Amino acid sequence: MFYLKYRPHTIAEIDNETPRDVILSLLKAKQLPHAFLFIGNKGTGKTSTARIFAKSINCLNNAYTGKGTSIEPCNSCAHCKAIDRSTFPDVNEMDAASNRGINEIKELIRESSLLPLSGKYRVYIIDEAHMITTDGFNALLKTLEEPPETVIFILATTNLEKVPKTIVSRCVLVQFGSAKKTEIVHMLKRIAEAEKITVDEKVFELVADHSDLSFRDGAKLFEELVLSKKTDFTSASLIIGVHSKDLLYSAIETRDITSSLEWINAYGKTSGSFKMLIEELLLDLQNHLLFLNKVPGTSTLLSFSLKETVLLMKLINEAYGQLRNSPIQAIPLEVALIEYYDTMRS
Ligand SMILES: Nc1ncnc2c1ncn2[C@@H]1O[C@H](COP(=O)(O)OP(=O)(O)OP(=O)(O)O)[C@@H](O)[C@H]1O
Ligand SMILES: [Mg+2]
Ligand SMILES: [Zn+2]
Repeated sequence: MFYLKYRPHTIAEIDNETPRDVILSLLKAKQLPHAFLFIGNKGTGKTSTARIFAKSINCLNNAYTGKGTSIEPCNSCAHCKAIDRSTFPDVNEMDAASNRGINEIKELIRESSLLPLSGKYRVYIIDEAHMITTDGFNALLKTLEEPPETVIFILATTNLEKVPKTIVSRCVLVQFGSAKKTEIVHMLKRIAEAEKITVDEKVFELVADHSDLSFRDGAKLFEELVLSKKTDFTSASLIIGVHSKDLLYSAIETRDITSSLEWINAYGKTSGSFKMLIEELLLDLQNHLLFLNKVPGTSTLLSFSLKETVLLMKLINEAYGQLRNSPIQAIPLEVALIEYYDTMRS
């Protein structure tokens, strides 16, 4: 999988500038904070960066062991390799979603007071840190205040509001934000080059635009195009359009039967679940209906009139009911749209 294969392994490979520069200057100064809080959208490199950091300070072949001036991890010594395989005894990665209670945190604190076994530093990477319980956070607080010299905690979260202020104030914050379009394009080019595939610049931008501001989503979408050999702009836009639903809505809005059916056909071929699709369409339409009726707190991306919206909801809802008895999953939706165009025309 591209997103695993091309996970950044060096600081230079981290495609988002802000965290890359922050980490680089901290490592160069060799003044290591003992607690970090990595904050950012999903798939922006928090876990990857934490691992790179752990490798850098435990690597056997860089400035941290007096070999040369580079602070990059070498990625080939025994320590770097073990960290990559998650078998290094001093680097501990835990997911707070499943280890969030006081007992797990106490165990972690006890262990962290021991000297490192093989490396220079013990590093604790706590993913989804906002899931830690209140008791757990309280227990952690004291340790974060006076951490042992040889321990570094890296807390990562997508949800800063749920981390207590007392914890936040004891950590060095590193903002990963969201992946920017240019940064995603940079990553995609790195992947394309390594895979020796030539791709039009416009395709990179198209993929980046539909990556939900996440490097992981971008890498996954790009891989899908490469695997299905749809890396020319026309095919890529069709597939990506299928993912985004926007093209279907604009076809319905302009009552373009051919494009609507073409979209549905492509959808069936590439991704599939009509049940999910219809559920999403109904949700969008319902939102739109509420918006048209001025229900507070609603917004919409659609531009159907009230009459159009109600008719679409009715017909698509019926299509949903017919899915179960239809041997071809695309049919109920196709019929619903054709009926819609017919009714609107008369
Ligand atoms: N800065 C980056 N540069 C290049 N690729 C990246 C970067 N960040 C993430 N990726 C890609 O996205 C994938 C997910 O990254 P990672 O697991 O580090 O993100 P995360 O921020 O921890 O996400 P989550 O919040 O979902 O845990 C990586 O395997 C890699 O392919
Ligand atoms: Mg992560
Ligand atoms: Zn190394």
